[in-house]
Amino acid sequence: MAEEFPMTGGDGPNSYAKNSNAAAKAADGAKAMLVAAIFENLDIETLQSRPATFRIADLGCSVGPNTFIQVDNIIDAVSQKYHKKSKVQSAGELPEFQVYFSDLVSNDFNYLFATLPRDRQYFTAGVPGSFHGRLFPEASLNFVYSAYALHWLSKIPDELRDINSPAFNKGRILYGNAPYEVGQAYSAQYAKDIKSFFHARGQELAPGGLMLLLIPGRPHGTLPAQNSLAPYFQPLESTLADMVNEASRT
Ligand SMILES: C[S@@+](CC[C@H](N)C(=O)[O-])C[C@H]1O[C@@H](n2cnc3c(N)ncnc32)[C@H](O)[C@@H]1O
Repeated sequence: MAEEFPMTGGDGPNSYAKNSNAAAKAADGAKAMLVAAIFENLDIETLQSRPATFRIADLGCSVGPNTFIQVDNIIDAVSQKYHKKSKVQSAGELPEFQVYFSDLVSNDFNYLFATLPRDRQYFTAGVPGSFHGRLFPEASLNFVYSAYALHWLSKIPDELRDINSPAFNKGRILYGNAPYEVGQAYSAQYAKDIKSFFHARGQELAPGGLMLLLIPGRPHGTLPAQNSLAPYFQPLESTLADMVNEASRT
């Protein structure tokens, strides 16, 4: 990725740590699905015999608290599944958990590590790099989680900046109210990116592993302008347009 746009680090008033309620609420709303998916689909029988290591990766984790809350939810659900399925009697018989916190290199990993929960029941490691490529060795992950990150594209589609293209997106930062071609250009880029993502994860997931992805979207039959992130970005778009107009008047 040529350019990176990390979440604001640290714990200041504008930091992601203090401004990530929307993602937290969405993850909380999906918690029941996460637990059900683990109960129904995670194949613990094919894990190596005990003592096994259960490896979890959060891709696009940013900083806490969201990633820590979801990692706890995942570990709780996996532990419950072990208790139920393999008649594990005590915590000592559970696999050891290793959690990989992964994000772009410009993410504030220092703050992430400094705020790791003190009472965590897992080993940790930071993995810098883009999830559009390989990040882990073959068949090394048992659970891949990614929330509110996969709508990030690896690049702005070239056509959006090409004055001769019907997808030239002058004056806008969104596709919502833009010509059809703009949405198509984003869509084509997304198709390429998600293909690379799945290709990499296909190699990294161990047999019996599971992947859970939370991606903002919009219901079928709604217009692009009705996507769930539009209310956040439309005011930003008009503010930026005002600033450009003001600058060009001075
Ligand atoms: C809105 S934050 C979501 C953070 C966290 N998952 C949550 O739910 O609160 C999106 C994160 O995705 C990361 N991200 C974007 N593109 C990425 C890529 N290609 N590879 C890895 N991380 C990426 C960003 O750096 C950012 O930290």
